Amino acid sequence: MTEPQTRDTAQAPAAAQPLLFQPLTLRGLTVRNRIVVSPMSQYSAVDGAPTDWHLVHLGKFAMGGAGIVFCEETSVSERSRKTYDCPGIYTDAQAKAWRRVTDFVRGQGAAAAIQLGHAGRKVATRAPWDGFSPLGPADAEQGRPPWAGLAPSPIAFKEGAMTPREMDRDDIRNVIQAHVDAAKRSLDAGFDICEVHGAHGYIIQQFLSPITNHRTDGYGGDIEGRMRFALELVEAVRAAWPADRPLFFRGSCVDGRGGIWNMDDTVVLAGRLKERGVDMFDCSSGGIDGPLTLHVVPRVPGYHVPFARRIRAEVGIPTMAVGLITQARQAEGYLEAGDCDLIALAREMMWNPNWPAHAAKELGMARPHELLPRPYAWWLQKREETLELSARTQHDERPVA
Ligand SMILES: Cc1cc2nc3c(=O)[nH]c(=O)nc-3n(C[C@H](O)[C@H](O)[C@H](O)COP(=O)(O)O)c2cc1C
Repeated sequence: MTEPQTRDTAQAPAAAQPLLFQPLTLRGLTVRNRIVVSPMSQYSAVDGAPTDWHLVHLGKFAMGGAGIVFCEETSVSERSRKTYDCPGIYTDAQAKAWRRVTDFVRGQGAAAAIQLGHAGRKVATRAPWDGFSPLGPADAEQGRPPWAGLAPSPIAFKEGAMTPREMDRDDIRNVIQAHVDAAKRSLDAGFDICEVHGAHGYIIQQFLSPITNHRTDGYGGDIEGRMRFALELVEAVRAAWPADRPLFFRGSCVDGRGGIWNMDDTVVLAGRLKERGVDMFDCSSGGIDGPLTLHVVPRVPGYHVPFARRIRAEVGIPTMAVGLITQARQAEGYLEAGDCDLIALAREMMWNPNWPAHAAKELGMARPHELLPRPYAWWLQKREETLELSARTQHDERPVA
Protein backbone atom coordinates (compact mmCIF):
# COMPACT_ATOMS: atom_id res chain seq x y z
CA MET A 1 0.00 0.00 0.00
CA THR A 2 1.31 3.41 -0.90
CA GLU A 3 0.75 6.59 1.04
CA PRO A 4 -0.76 9.52 -0.81
CA GLN A 5 1.81 12.26 -1.26
CA THR A 6 0.41 15.74 -1.15
CA ARG A 7 2.40 18.85 -0.60
CA ASP A 8 2.27 22.39 -1.63
CA THR A 9 4.66 23.26 -4.39
CA ALA A 10 8.27 23.93 -3.53
CA GLN A 11 8.22 27.24 -5.39
CA ALA A 12 6.34 29.14 -2.72
CA PRO A 13 4.06 31.70 -4.31
CA ALA A 14 3.99 35.30 -3.19
CA ALA A 15 2.00 35.79 0.01
CA ALA A 16 -0.66 37.73 -1.85
CA GLN A 17 -1.32 34.91 -4.28
CA PRO A 18 -4.90 33.69 -3.79
CA LEU A 19 -5.07 30.06 -2.67
CA LEU A 20 -7.16 29.26 -5.75
CA PHE A 21 -4.13 30.04 -7.89
CA GLN A 22 -1.49 28.30 -5.85
CA PRO A 23 -0.12 25.15 -7.52
CA LEU A 24 -0.66 21.77 -5.92
CA THR A 25 1.66 18.82 -6.15
CA LEU A 26 0.17 15.35 -5.99
CA ARG A 27 2.81 12.64 -6.26
CA GLY A 28 4.87 13.56 -9.36
CA LEU A 29 2.32 15.95 -10.82
CA THR A 30 2.10 19.68 -10.12
CA VAL A 31 -1.10 21.34 -11.27
CA ARG A 32 -1.00 25.07 -11.98
CA ASN A 33 -3.98 26.00 -9.80
CA ARG A 34 -6.81 24.50 -7.74
CA ILE A 35 -9.55 24.83 -10.37
CA VAL A 36 -10.89 21.55 -11.74
CA VAL A 37 -13.34 20.99 -14.55
CA SER A 38 -15.64 18.29 -13.18
CA PRO A 39 -16.60 15.32 -15.40
CA MET A 40 -19.50 16.08 -17.75
CA SER A 41 -21.02 13.34 -19.91
CA GLN A 42 -21.69 14.59 -23.44
CA TYR A 43 -23.42 11.62 -25.14
CA SER A 44 -21.44 12.50 -28.24
CA ALA A 45 -19.01 9.61 -28.70
CA VAL A 46 -18.96 7.41 -31.78
CA ASP A 47 -18.25 3.71 -31.23
CA GLY A 48 -17.03 4.67 -27.77
CA ALA A 49 -14.40 7.06 -29.15
CA PRO A 50 -14.23 10.78 -28.39
CA THR A 51 -14.83 13.04 -31.38
CA ASP A 52 -14.08 16.60 -32.48
CA TRP A 53 -16.81 17.59 -30.02
CA HIS A 54 -14.71 16.35 -27.11
CA LEU A 55 -11.59 18.07 -28.42
CA VAL A 56 -13.34 21.44 -28.54
CA HIS A 57 -15.46 20.93 -25.41
CA LEU A 58 -12.50 19.93 -23.23
CA GLY A 59 -9.94 21.98 -25.11
CA LYS A 60 -11.70 25.24 -24.39
CA PHE A 61 -11.62 24.55 -20.65
CA ALA A 62 -7.86 24.03 -20.84
CA MET A 63 -7.55 27.26 -22.81
CA GLY A 64 -9.64 28.97 -20.12
CA GLY A 65 -6.95 28.34 -17.50
CA ALA A 66 -8.26 25.43 -15.39
CA GLY A 67 -5.64 23.42 -13.50
CA ILE A 68 -7.22 20.02 -14.18
CA VAL A 69 -9.61 19.14 -16.98
CA PHE A 70 -11.62 15.98 -16.44
CA CYS A 71 -13.10 14.15 -19.34
CA GLU A 72 -16.49 12.58 -18.74
CA GLU A 73 -17.18 9.17 -17.25
CA THR A 74 -15.41 6.80 -19.63
CA SER A 75 -16.42 3.16 -19.68
CA VAL A 76 -14.07 0.29 -19.05
CA SER A 77 -16.01 -2.05 -21.35
CA GLU A 78 -18.56 -1.81 -24.14
CA ARG A 79 -21.47 -3.18 -22.12
CA SER A 80 -20.76 -0.99 -19.10
CA ARG A 81 -21.71 2.17 -20.98
CA LYS A 82 -24.82 4.08 -19.95
CA THR A 83 -25.76 4.81 -23.57
CA TYR A 84 -24.60 3.97 -27.06
CA ASP A 85 -23.15 7.50 -27.21
CA CYS A 86 -20.95 7.27 -24.11
CA PRO A 87 -17.20 7.06 -24.56
CA GLY A 88 -14.98 4.23 -23.49
CA ILE A 89 -11.35 3.28 -23.18
CA TYR A 90 -11.60 -0.42 -23.89
CA THR A 91 -9.94 -0.40 -27.34
CA ASP A 92 -6.62 0.91 -28.60
CA ALA A 93 -8.49 3.02 -31.17
CA GLN A 94 -10.34 4.81 -28.34
CA ALA A 95 -7.07 5.41 -26.47
CA LYS A 96 -5.61 6.92 -29.64
CA ALA A 97 -8.63 9.19 -30.06
CA TRP A 98 -8.29 10.32 -26.43
CA ARG A 99 -4.61 11.07 -27.06
CA ARG A 100 -5.59 13.83 -29.47
CA VAL A 101 -7.64 15.43 -26.68
CA THR A 102 -5.04 15.01 -23.93
CA ASP A 103 -2.24 16.34 -26.14
CA PHE A 104 -4.21 19.54 -26.64
CA VAL A 105 -5.31 19.87 -23.00
CA ARG A 106 -1.78 19.33 -21.71
CA GLY A 107 -0.37 21.61 -24.39
CA GLN A 108 -2.51 24.38 -22.86
CA GLY A 109 -0.93 23.83 -19.45
CA ALA A 110 -3.75 21.87 -17.78
CA ALA A 111 -3.51 18.35 -16.41
CA ALA A 112 -5.69 15.82 -18.25
CA ALA A 113 -7.82 13.55 -16.06
CA ILE A 114 -9.92 10.52 -16.92
CA GLN A 115 -12.86 9.20 -14.93
CA LEU A 116 -13.18 5.43 -15.30
CA GLY A 117 -16.71 4.16 -14.98
CA HIS A 118 -18.88 1.06 -15.14
CA ALA A 119 -22.62 1.68 -15.01
CA GLY A 120 -23.43 -1.77 -13.58
CA ARG A 121 -27.22 -2.04 -13.64
CA LYS A 122 -27.70 1.52 -15.01
CA VAL A 123 -26.89 0.62 -18.61
CA ALA A 124 -28.83 0.82 -21.89
CA THR A 125 -30.54 4.15 -21.34
CA ARG A 126 -31.40 7.17 -23.42
CA ALA A 127 -29.74 10.55 -22.83
CA PRO A 128 -30.70 12.71 -19.81
CA TRP A 129 -32.82 15.05 -21.97
CA ASP A 130 -34.85 11.91 -22.80
CA GLY A 131 -35.21 11.21 -19.09
CA PHE A 132 -32.46 8.56 -18.90
CA SER A 133 -35.30 6.19 -19.75
CA PRO A 134 -34.45 2.57 -20.53
CA LEU A 135 -34.05 1.63 -24.19
CA GLY A 136 -37.07 -0.25 -25.54
CA PRO A 137 -38.51 -1.86 -28.67
CA ALA A 138 -38.58 1.44 -30.61
CA ASP A 139 -34.82 1.83 -30.02
CA ALA A 140 -34.25 -1.80 -31.01
CA GLU A 141 -35.96 -1.07 -34.33
CA GLN A 142 -33.48 1.78 -34.83
CA GLY A 143 -30.61 -0.66 -34.33
CA ARG A 144 -30.12 0.18 -30.66
CA PRO A 145 -31.40 -2.82 -28.71
CA PRO A 146 -31.20 -2.71 -24.91
CA TRP A 147 -28.86 -5.03 -23.07
CA ALA A 148 -28.69 -6.31 -19.52
CA GLY A 149 -26.07 -4.93 -17.16
CA LEU A 150 -24.10 -6.60 -14.41
CA ALA A 151 -24.77 -5.88 -10.75
CA PRO A 152 -24.17 -7.27 -7.28
CA SER A 153 -27.83 -8.33 -7.13
CA PRO A 154 -30.45 -8.84 -9.87
CA ILE A 155 -32.51 -5.68 -9.25
CA ALA A 156 -33.49 -3.42 -12.15
CA PHE A 157 -32.72 0.28 -11.65
CA LYS A 158 -36.16 1.40 -12.78
CA GLU A 159 -39.37 0.06 -14.25
CA GLY A 160 -38.90 -0.98 -17.86
CA ALA A 161 -35.16 -1.57 -17.49
CA MET A 162 -33.73 -5.05 -18.01
CA THR A 163 -32.89 -6.94 -14.84
CA PRO A 164 -29.09 -7.04 -14.47
CA ARG A 165 -27.27 -10.33 -14.14
CA GLU A 166 -26.04 -11.06 -10.63
CA MET A 167 -22.25 -11.09 -10.74
CA ASP A 168 -20.39 -14.26 -9.85
CA ARG A 169 -16.74 -14.36 -8.80
CA ASP A 170 -15.57 -14.49 -12.42
CA ASP A 171 -17.62 -11.40 -13.25
CA ILE A 172 -16.11 -9.59 -10.29
CA ARG A 173 -12.60 -10.54 -11.40
CA ASN A 174 -13.37 -9.50 -14.99
CA VAL A 175 -14.79 -6.10 -14.04
CA ILE A 176 -11.74 -5.38 -11.87
CA GLN A 177 -9.47 -6.49 -14.72
CA ALA A 178 -11.38 -4.23 -17.13
CA HIS A 179 -10.59 -1.28 -14.84
CA VAL A 180 -6.92 -2.29 -14.75
CA ASP A 181 -6.77 -2.55 -18.56
CA ALA A 182 -8.53 0.80 -18.86
CA ALA A 183 -6.04 2.41 -16.46
CA LYS A 184 -3.14 1.11 -18.57
CA ARG A 185 -4.78 2.43 -21.74
CA SER A 186 -5.36 5.77 -19.99
CA LEU A 187 -1.62 6.04 -19.58
CA ASP A 188 -1.10 5.40 -23.30
CA ALA A 189 -3.84 7.95 -23.96
CA GLY A 190 -1.81 10.62 -22.13
CA PHE A 191 -3.85 11.16 -18.97
CA ASP A 192 -2.06 12.59 -15.91
CA ILE A 193 -4.76 11.67 -13.39
CA CYS A 194 -7.02 8.64 -13.13
CA GLU A 195 -10.27 8.77 -11.16
CA VAL A 196 -12.32 5.73 -10.21
CA HIS A 197 -16.02 6.61 -10.38
CA GLY A 198 -17.48 5.18 -7.21
CA ALA A 199 -20.51 7.50 -7.05
CA HIS A 200 -23.89 8.19 -8.66
CA GLY A 201 -25.32 4.70 -8.27
CA TYR A 202 -22.93 2.97 -10.66
CA ILE A 203 -21.33 -0.41 -10.10
CA ILE A 204 -19.09 0.44 -7.14
CA GLN A 205 -21.86 2.16 -5.28
CA GLN A 206 -24.21 -0.70 -6.17
CA PHE A 207 -21.89 -2.90 -4.12
CA LEU A 208 -21.61 -0.33 -1.32
CA SER A 209 -25.33 0.25 -0.84
CA PRO A 210 -27.58 -2.24 0.93
CA ILE A 211 -30.37 -1.07 -1.39
CA THR A 212 -28.69 -2.71 -4.38
CA ASN A 213 -26.44 -5.27 -2.70
CA HIS A 214 -28.37 -8.23 -1.27
CA ARG A 215 -25.51 -10.69 -1.52
CA THR A 216 -24.82 -13.25 1.12
CA ASP A 217 -21.23 -14.01 0.06
CA GLY A 218 -18.08 -12.09 1.06
CA TYR A 219 -19.03 -9.15 -1.20
CA GLY A 220 -22.24 -8.34 0.66
CA GLY A 221 -23.66 -8.12 4.16
CA ASP A 222 -22.04 -5.62 6.53
CA ILE A 223 -20.07 -2.57 5.43
CA GLU A 224 -16.83 -4.59 5.31
CA GLY A 225 -18.36 -7.01 2.82
CA ARG A 226 -20.02 -4.28 0.77
CA MET A 227 -16.74 -2.28 0.58
CA ARG A 228 -14.71 -5.30 -0.54
CA PHE A 229 -15.35 -4.88 -4.28
CA ALA A 230 -14.45 -1.18 -4.19
CA LEU A 231 -11.27 -1.79 -2.23
CA GLU A 232 -10.07 -4.70 -4.37
CA LEU A 233 -10.77 -2.67 -7.50
CA VAL A 234 -8.92 0.40 -6.23
CA GLU A 235 -5.95 -1.71 -5.10
CA ALA A 236 -5.72 -3.27 -8.56
CA VAL A 237 -5.98 0.08 -10.35
CA ARG A 238 -3.42 1.67 -8.01
CA ALA A 239 -0.99 -1.15 -8.80
CA ALA A 240 -1.51 -0.63 -12.54
CA TRP A 241 -1.43 3.19 -12.49
CA PRO A 242 2.11 4.62 -12.21
CA ALA A 243 3.26 5.46 -8.68
CA ASP A 244 4.11 9.02 -9.71
CA ARG A 245 0.57 9.76 -10.97
CA PRO A 246 -2.35 10.64 -8.74
CA LEU A 247 -5.40 8.44 -8.28
CA PHE A 248 -8.73 10.06 -7.36
CA PHE A 249 -11.94 8.42 -6.17
CA ARG A 250 -15.39 10.00 -6.59
CA GLY A 251 -17.85 8.87 -3.95
CA SER A 252 -21.49 9.57 -3.18
CA CYS A 253 -20.97 10.76 0.40
CA VAL A 254 -24.65 10.27 1.28
CA ASP A 255 -27.25 8.30 -0.57
CA GLY A 256 -30.35 6.18 -0.47
CA ARG A 257 -33.72 6.41 1.18
CA GLY A 258 -33.37 7.62 4.77
CA GLY A 259 -29.60 8.17 4.43
CA ILE A 260 -28.94 4.44 4.24
CA TRP A 261 -25.38 5.20 3.07
CA ASN A 262 -24.25 8.11 5.21
CA MET A 263 -21.22 10.19 6.10
CA ASP A 264 -20.08 7.80 8.83
CA ASP A 265 -19.87 5.08 6.16
CA THR A 266 -18.05 7.44 3.79
CA VAL A 267 -15.48 8.34 6.42
CA VAL A 268 -14.71 4.63 6.89
CA LEU A 269 -14.48 4.13 3.12
CA ALA A 270 -12.26 7.17 2.59
CA GLY A 271 -9.87 5.92 5.28
CA ARG A 272 -9.53 2.55 3.55
CA LEU A 273 -9.04 4.22 0.19
CA LYS A 274 -6.32 6.44 1.62
CA GLU A 275 -4.50 3.35 2.93
CA ARG A 276 -4.64 1.96 -0.60
CA GLY A 277 -3.01 4.97 -2.19
CA VAL A 278 -5.95 7.13 -3.24
CA ASP A 279 -4.71 10.74 -3.35
CA MET A 280 -7.96 12.70 -3.55
CA PHE A 281 -11.53 12.03 -2.41
CA ASP A 282 -13.92 13.73 -4.83
CA CYS A 283 -17.12 14.44 -2.88
CA SER A 284 -20.46 13.97 -4.58
CA SER A 285 -23.81 12.43 -3.60
CA GLY A 286 -26.86 10.50 -4.75
CA GLY A 287 -27.72 8.19 -7.63
CA ILE A 288 -28.51 4.84 -6.07
CA ASP A 289 -32.28 5.06 -6.40
CA GLY A 290 -35.10 7.38 -7.29
CA PRO A 291 -35.46 9.59 -10.34
CA LEU A 292 -32.58 11.46 -11.90
CA THR A 293 -33.96 14.66 -10.46
CA LEU A 294 -33.94 13.37 -6.86
CA HIS A 295 -31.60 15.56 -4.83
CA VAL A 296 -30.47 13.83 -1.67
CA VAL A 297 -28.61 17.00 -0.69
CA PRO A 298 -30.44 20.37 -0.86
CA ARG A 299 -29.05 22.35 -3.77
CA VAL A 300 -27.49 25.33 -2.05
CA PRO A 301 -24.19 26.91 -3.15
CA GLY A 302 -21.31 24.57 -2.27
CA TYR A 303 -23.65 21.74 -1.28
CA HIS A 304 -20.93 19.09 -1.02
CA VAL A 305 -18.43 21.27 0.84
CA PRO A 306 -19.44 20.08 4.34
CA PHE A 307 -18.64 16.51 3.26
CA ALA A 308 -15.24 17.54 1.87
CA ARG A 309 -14.51 19.36 5.14
CA ARG A 310 -15.35 16.40 7.38
CA ILE A 311 -13.49 13.80 5.29
CA ARG A 312 -10.42 16.02 5.06
CA ALA A 313 -10.43 16.69 8.81
CA GLU A 314 -11.20 13.16 10.03
CA VAL A 315 -9.40 11.04 7.47
CA GLY A 316 -6.57 13.37 6.51
CA ILE A 317 -7.04 12.70 2.82
CA PRO A 318 -7.10 15.65 0.40
CA THR A 319 -10.58 16.42 -0.88
CA MET A 320 -12.24 17.99 -3.90
CA ALA A 321 -15.51 19.87 -3.49
CA VAL A 322 -18.13 20.33 -6.21
CA GLY A 323 -21.70 21.55 -6.44
CA LEU A 324 -22.89 25.06 -7.26
CA ILE A 325 -19.54 26.69 -6.80
CA THR A 326 -19.84 29.68 -9.10
CA GLN A 327 -18.04 32.64 -7.48
CA ALA A 328 -14.32 33.24 -7.10
CA ARG A 329 -14.60 34.51 -3.52
CA GLN A 330 -16.82 31.57 -2.61
CA ALA A 331 -14.18 29.14 -3.90
CA GLU A 332 -11.34 31.05 -2.22
CA GLY A 333 -13.31 31.01 1.04
CA TYR A 334 -13.55 27.20 1.05
CA LEU A 335 -9.79 26.92 0.51
CA GLU A 336 -9.06 29.52 3.19
CA ALA A 337 -11.27 27.62 5.65
CA GLY A 338 -9.39 24.40 4.90
CA ASP A 339 -12.55 22.70 3.66
CA CYS A 340 -10.95 21.17 0.59
CA ASP A 341 -7.85 21.12 -1.59
CA LEU A 342 -9.43 21.38 -5.02
CA ILE A 343 -12.47 23.25 -6.32
CA ALA A 344 -14.44 21.56 -9.09
CA LEU A 345 -16.97 23.22 -11.36
CA ALA A 346 -19.19 21.67 -14.00
CA ARG A 347 -22.16 23.76 -15.20
CA GLU A 348 -20.43 27.05 -14.41
CA MET A 349 -17.63 26.09 -16.79
CA MET A 350 -20.14 25.40 -19.54
CA TRP A 351 -21.52 28.88 -18.90
CA ASN A 352 -18.12 30.50 -18.78
CA PRO A 353 -15.15 28.38 -19.93
CA ASN A 354 -12.84 31.29 -19.07
CA TRP A 355 -14.01 31.24 -15.44
CA PRO A 356 -10.43 30.81 -14.13
CA ALA A 357 -9.28 34.04 -15.79
CA HIS A 358 -12.36 35.90 -14.53
CA ALA A 359 -11.75 34.50 -11.04
CA ALA A 360 -8.13 35.66 -11.16
CA LYS A 361 -9.31 39.18 -11.94
CA GLU A 362 -11.95 39.06 -9.22
CA LEU A 363 -9.33 37.97 -6.69
CA GLY A 364 -7.02 40.82 -7.64
CA MET A 365 -4.31 38.87 -9.41
CA ALA A 366 -1.93 40.93 -11.52
CA ARG A 367 -2.31 40.25 -15.26
CA PRO A 368 -5.20 37.74 -15.04
CA HIS A 369 -5.32 37.48 -18.82
CA GLU A 370 -2.05 35.61 -18.78
CA LEU A 371 -4.02 32.53 -17.75
CA LEU A 372 -5.37 32.52 -21.28
CA PRO A 373 -3.36 31.51 -24.37
CA ARG A 374 -0.99 34.14 -25.72
CA PRO A 375 -3.02 34.88 -28.89
CA TYR A 376 -5.79 36.01 -26.52
CA ALA A 377 -3.86 37.31 -23.53
CA TRP A 378 -1.96 40.14 -25.21
CA TRP A 379 -5.07 41.53 -26.86
CA LEU A 380 -7.23 41.25 -23.79
CA GLN A 381 -4.61 43.00 -21.67
CA LYS A 382 -4.52 45.84 -24.21
CA ARG A 383 -8.32 45.95 -24.19
CA GLU A 384 -8.32 46.18 -20.40
CA GLU A 385 -5.80 49.04 -20.45
CA THR A 386 -7.83 50.85 -23.10
CA LEU A 387 -11.03 50.47 -21.13
CA GLU A 388 -9.33 51.79 -17.98
CA LEU A 389 -7.86 54.75 -19.82
CA SER A 390 -11.18 55.49 -21.46
CA ALA A 391 -13.01 55.37 -18.11
CA ARG A 392 -10.41 57.75 -16.58
CA THR A 393 -10.56 60.15 -19.53
CA GLN A 394 -14.34 60.28 -19.49
CA HIS A 395 -14.21 60.94 -15.78
CA ASP A 396 -11.66 63.75 -16.18
CA GLU A 397 -13.63 65.35 -18.99
CA ARG A 398 -16.95 65.29 -17.17
CA PRO A 399 -18.03 68.90 -16.67
CA VAL A 400 -18.00 70.18 -13.10
CA ALA A 401 -21.56 70.78 -11.93
C1 LIG B 1 -23.76 17.82 -18.34
C2 LIG B 1 -23.29 17.12 -17.10
C3 LIG B 1 -22.74 15.84 -17.18
C4 LIG B 1 -22.23 15.21 -16.05
N1 LIG B 1 -21.56 14.02 -16.19
C5 LIG B 1 -20.90 13.50 -15.13
C6 LIG B 1 -20.03 12.40 -15.30
O1 LIG B 1 -19.78 11.90 -16.41
N2 LIG B 1 -19.44 11.91 -14.18
C7 LIG B 1 -19.65 12.45 -12.94
O2 LIG B 1 -19.09 11.97 -11.96
N3 LIG B 1 -20.43 13.53 -12.78
C8 LIG B 1 -21.05 14.07 -13.83
N4 LIG B 1 -21.78 15.21 -13.68
C9 LIG B 1 -21.81 15.87 -12.36
C10 LIG B 1 -20.77 17.00 -12.30
O3 LIG B 1 -19.45 16.50 -12.42
C11 LIG B 1 -20.89 17.82 -10.99
O4 LIG B 1 -20.56 17.01 -9.91
C12 LIG B 1 -22.28 18.42 -10.79
O5 LIG B 1 -22.79 18.97 -12.00
C13 LIG B 1 -22.27 19.50 -9.72
O6 LIG B 1 -21.40 20.54 -10.05
P1 LIG B 1 -21.90 21.97 -10.66
O7 LIG B 1 -22.90 22.54 -9.70
O8 LIG B 1 -20.66 22.80 -10.76
O9 LIG B 1 -22.52 21.70 -12.00
C14 LIG B 1 -22.33 15.83 -14.78
C15 LIG B 1 -22.95 17.09 -14.70
C16 LIG B 1 -23.40 17.75 -15.83
C17 LIG B 1 -24.00 19.12 -15.71
